Amino acid sequence: VVNGFMNLHEYNFTVAYAGNSTSVLLINNQFPGPTIRANLNDTIIVHVHNALHTMEEVTIHFHGILQQQTPQMDGVGFVTQMPIPNGRTFTHAFRANPAGTHMYHSHAGLQAVTVFGTIIIDDPLRRWEAAEIPSGPIMFSDHWEGVDRLEQEAGLLESPFKWEGEPSNLYMNGQRNFLLTLDPGEIYLLRLIGATSLSTIVFGITEHPMTVVEVDGKLVIPKPNITSIEIASGQRYAVLIETKSQYSGVFAMQAAIRWRVAAANSSCIGILRYGVQSSLSTNLTSLELPSLFNETELFLFAFRERYQTLLKSERMPPGHEGRADTEFILHTGQEYTPDGKGIRWLTNNATFDMLRLKNLTTSLLMDLYHGNEQNLPHDVVYTLEHDQLVDIVVQNTVALNGICESHPMHMHGHKFWIHSYGTGMYNAVHNIWPDRHDPVLRDSLMIYASSYAYYSPNRNVSNHRMPCGWTKLRMIANNPGLWMFHCHIGAHSFMGMNVLLKEDIENLSMIYLKQN
Ligand code: C2O
Ligand code: CU
Repeated sequence: VVNGFMNLHEYNFTVAYAGNSTSVLLINNQFPGPTIRANLNDTIIVHVHNALHTMEEVTIHFHGILQQQTPQMDGVGFVTQMPIPNGRTFTHAFRANPAGTHMYHSHAGLQAVTVFGTIIIDDPLRRWEAAEIPSGPIMFSDHWEGVDRLEQEAGLLESPFKWEGEPSNLYMNGQRNFLLTLDPGEIYLLRLIGATSLSTIVFGITEHPMTVVEVDGKLVIPKPNITSIEIASGQRYAVLIETKSQYSGVFAMQAAIRWRVAAANSSCIGILRYGVQSSLSTNLTSLELPSLFNETELFLFAFRERYQTLLKSERMPPGHEGRADTEFILHTGQEYTPDGKGIRWLTNNATFDMLRLKNLTTSLLMDLYHGNEQNLPHDVVYTLEHDQLVDIVVQNTVALNGICESHPMHMHGHKFWIHSYGTGMYNAVHNIWPDRHDPVLRDSLMIYASSYAYYSPNRNVSNHRMPCGWTKLRMIANNPGLWMFHCHIGAHSFMGMNVLLKEDIENLSMIYLKQN
């Protein structure tokens, strides 16, 4: 115990442009950024310094961390803190909670394309009986080679908007051809992190089936014999793999983009080898590739084959038949905005991009703490009362291009259970498929998208209002604060696909952790 701190882990993050690039941002010149690692309930301190020579502002969000009692450390510009201007530093201090595999990333503009890193919280009472791979977690990311990020951002807000385009590259740990060297005859824990800005990827390793043991940081009933796994933006998995007993071998690891027709088959191939002496002369293209999900399997797996919680204490109350205290529906959609700004992503007819808040001088959270609701963007705020059991139905609708798009929705400050899902328009009585008996608690989930609309070769743009499916999430409002709930696709969130959960503000104590 130093100065009243329990097991303090302190990091300095300097956000700056890489070399003489004018669009690639990095933390401490590393890609991915430095890893944060701590034991459960330790204290983590991160000093985030904005060293950009442009006028761009920065915030860092700690994705998967609950921030209980510390909503002001959540890293959302104008919402939980004022964004960090050039030359300034913001200090985050928060508890390492919950245990598991998490990530951090910039929450400003499209900066998260390169500004991200891993957070691992270990529970000393639950050690894995498996070796961690030496290179640490595998972070998947997408990249737009030679494309200026600031121009992409500007284009998305134009009328009509200019789509950011499909990524040119996929990376594993920032590399095109990531090399992983393991020992034979061992069981390894592999942490897989979806740090993509746009792409949903599927990942597999030839001849190395995976056993999924952790989902978004939560323990699940182990799911063995998985040959390929879907990882959407914001999702994390931990899997066990067993290496073969012979002392040499070279295998392909492949991550491929799915859910987007234009990018289908874009992929990135890494190499798993046993022992440093395993020959690498093997031409990459001659390696046998893993068999990844085809589109039908992908669809079935994404919505039907989900994971079950391992711990009794994390079971969904009060069961599938039991009702929540309150329920609300979020209709997501892509429409022309009434104010003529162009096409935006909307939630219940309201769009919410950060530019709406750019004239604020204090964060919305600080305002609320002082009893001032005047600046709240009321059309995108949903109020949750103390300890309520809340059901949120996310109703997906077809976008203007006629496609039922996939949206990985992410919730700050909470984990939720996947209560049920169905096709078409949500109806509390019909069309409900409960999600297994004990759905896992998670914080990032692909909402239901129908295969019909997605794969229809004759997309009919005029039926874009057609509903394509819904997913019902259940959560407990046990964390006072102001929390983002949004699509984790960078461009969708940037174009307004965000809402705010205003939760139990009366019990917001804002206990600031003691700081030097
Ligand atoms: Cu990882 Cu609000 O996002
Ligand atoms: Cu989306």
